[in-house]
Amino acid sequence: MCGIIGYVGDQSALDIALNGLRRLEYRGYDSSGVAIVGAGALRTARRAGKLANLEKLLAEGPDMDPMPGTTGMGHTRWATHGGPTDMNAHPHTDCTGAIAVIHNGIIENFAQLRAELEARGHELASETDTEVVAHLLEDELGSEPSAGADLAGANLAGAAAAGAVTGGAGAVVPPVAGAAAAGASDGGPGTHPLTSALRRVCLRLEGAFTLVVLHRDFPEVVVGARRNSPLVVGLGEGESFLASDVSAFIAHTREALEIGQDQVVEARRDGVTVTDFAGRIVEGRRYHVDWDASAAEKGGYPYFMLKEINEQPSALADTLRGRLSADGAIVLDEERLSAQDFRDVDKVFIVACGTAYHAGLIAKYAVEHWTRLPCEVEMASEFRYRDPVLDRSTLVIAISQSGETLDTLMAVKHAREQKARVLAICNTNGSTIPRESDAVLYTRCGPEVGVASTKTFLGQVAACLLVGLFLAQVRGVLYGDEVAAYVERLQRMPDLVRRTLDRLEPIRELARELADAKAVLFLGRHVGYPVALEGALKLKELAYMHAEGFPAGELKHGPIALIEPGLPVLVVVPSPRGRANLHGKIVSNIQEVRARGARTIVIAEDGDTAVEPYADHLIRVPETTSLFAPLVTTLPLQVFACELALARGLDVDQPRNLAKSVTVE
Ligand code: AGP
Repeated sequence: MCGIIGYVGDQSALDIALNGLRRLEYRGYDSSGVAIVGAGALRTARRAGKLANLEKLLAEGPDMDPMPGTTGMGHTRWATHGGPTDMNAHPHTDCTGAIAVIHNGIIENFAQLRAELEARGHELASETDTEVVAHLLEDELGSEPSAGADLAGANLAGAAAAGAVTGGAGAVVPPVAGAAAAGASDGGPGTHPLTSALRRVCLRLEGAFTLVVLHRDFPEVVVGARRNSPLVVGLGEGESFLASDVSAFIAHTREALEIGQDQVVEARRDGVTVTDFAGRIVEGRRYHVDWDASAAEKGGYPYFMLKEINEQPSALADTLRGRLSADGAIVLDEERLSAQDFRDVDKVFIVACGTAYHAGLIAKYAVEHWTRLPCEVEMASEFRYRDPVLDRSTLVIAISQSGETLDTLMAVKHAREQKARVLAICNTNGSTIPRESDAVLYTRCGPEVGVASTKTFLGQVAACLLVGLFLAQVRGVLYGDEVAAYVERLQRMPDLVRRTLDRLEPIRELARELADAKAVLFLGRHVGYPVALEGALKLKELAYMHAEGFPAGELKHGPIALIEPGLPVLVVVPSPRGRANLHGKIVSNIQEVRARGARTIVIAEDGDTAVEPYADHLIRVPETTSLFAPLVTTLPLQVFACELALARGLDVDQPRNLAKSVTVE
C-alpha cells in the first residue's frame, strides 16, 4: 500500500519522482504528491485521484514550471486514515512548511501523538496518521516559525483543498538553529540532524511505517526509516534513491541495498549510511537486480495484466530453471536450516493471503501426497490470532509475491516466536518476508505490475510443488529418480502453458458475451477447487462482479439454491485419467446445475468426451498430471475475468479500492 520514491543527486528531482510514481502507482492510486527541495525552498504538490491528476496540476500550476531542485520525493497513496482527498494526500508538512514527510503504513498511536502536538500549539491540517511525523520532527529540530511560515501554512491549507501546489518564495523559513543551520552532519555519516531527529521520532511511533523525509534547509540529504513496511535503496553514480520497491529506480540503477527492520537510512549524493534506531551503524545487504526497466513496462500491450498473462510460460520456466542439482537434489535459493531440521518436521502450515493463499491450497494436495506430512493452509490474517499449535518441528511455508504483505509477515514472526521453522516462497528479492525466514525459494517471475496476480500465481504453484518434492526428498519419502522425474515433467509445463494460452479465444468471446451477467459461480474438486476460488477472486477484483467458488460436492449442501435459469457456472473438471472417481462425480455435479437452468462453462482436458453432453460451452486444456493441472486450468479463468472486465470498460491494472502490496493489517 502506498508507493514511495526519494531522490538526491544531480537530476531533476521532479522528473525522477514522477517517473518513479508512474512505476509505483500499482501500489495505491487514491492520490499522489511530490515535494522538492531547491533554490532555498521546499515545494509540495499533491492531488486526489490517479497520478494523471497530479501531472495535470503540475502542468497547469502557475508557479511550478519547472519545480526546481535535485532533492525530492513522491508518494502514491492507498488511503487508510482520512479519505482520498487533496488535503489528505502526501507529502505532509509541519507548521513551518520546512519539513515534508511521506509514509506507507499505519501509525497506530497517532491519535495520542496528535493530541500532544495540538496541546503544544501545532496545527494539523489533514486527517492522516502521517502528519504527526512532520510536527514531531519540527519539535525535534527546533525550527522557529516565521512570517513566511505562516504564509506557507495558509497557502497549504487553502490551496490543498483544490489540489495544492505550495512553496516557492512565500514558503521560505529561516534555517533551523545550531549545527543544522549549516546543513552539516553533527559527527559523521548517519548523524545528520535530520537523520538523528527521524531516529528519535521513530522511537515514539507504534505500528508499521516506511517514512521518507525532506527538509528545506538540507538539500544534501533525503532520509528514510522503516518498520514492518518496505524500503529499498538504489545506489547510483553520484545519486541515491529510496523507494518502496526497485521498479521506482530501475531505470537509473540496478544496484540495490536492503534496509532492515527498525533502521534509518541517510541518503546523499555520495552514498548512504544505515543506522538502527539507536544510531549504531549497520551493514545493509547489497544486491544486483537481475531484471531491467523494460521488464516493468507494458511492452506494447494496452495493460500490464495482458502482458503478464502472456509472460506465464517464461515466468514459469524461470521459476523452475536450475532447480535440480548435478546430484539430482532440489535446490532452494537460501537455506539456513540443515537437512536434519527438515527431516524433523512433523507438520506443515501454509500461510498466505488472496491469490497466494489459493496457491497454498493447491500445495496442500501435493505436500500431503508426496511427504505424508499433515499440512494445514491458513489465511495469514487469521493465523496468529487463533493461537496455532507450533513448535520447532513445525514447518511454516509463507507464500507472498511482494514479500511485504503485513498479514503474512506477522504470521511469519508469530511462527518464529513459537520456534517453528519458516520457509518463504517469494517473488521479490530484498523484501522482508524472505529476510525473516529460515529458507527461501524465489519465484523469479520478474516484476508483476498488474494488481491482480497472474504470472506470480503460476510461479507460486510451481514453487510449492518444488517445496513438496524437496521435503519428500530430504525426508526420503521419494527416491531421487522419482523426484527428478517429477521435476522433468514440471519443466515441460511452460510449453503446455504456452499451448493453452494460444487456444483461449473462445473464452474471450464468451466473457464479452457475459459482460452483463449478475453473478458467476465456479466449481471444482481436488486441486480444481482452489482453482475455482482463484477464478472467482479474479472476477470479483477485476469485474466487480459477484462470484463465488465452491467445492462441487458442497453445492448440494446449500449454494445450489443460488442456481437460477441462465446463471453462468464455470466448472473445472479433473482429468478422467488421473482421478477417475472424482471425474464421474463432477460430471454428475454439472448435470445437477444444468438441470436447474445454469449455463455451464466446462474446463476439461483434451479427449474428455464424457463432459460434452452437459457443457453449454466447452473450453479445452491440454492433458497433464493431476497435481500439475492448476498450471493450465487457471489460465482460462484469468483470461475470462480480464476480458469480462475490459468489456465492462474497467481498468484491469488498477481495480478500485485495491493495491498491489498490502502493508497494513
Ligand atoms: C490477487 O490478485 C491479489 N493481488 C491479492 O489477493 C494478493 O495475492 C494478496 O494480497 C497477497 O499478496 P502477496 O502475494 O504479495 O503477499
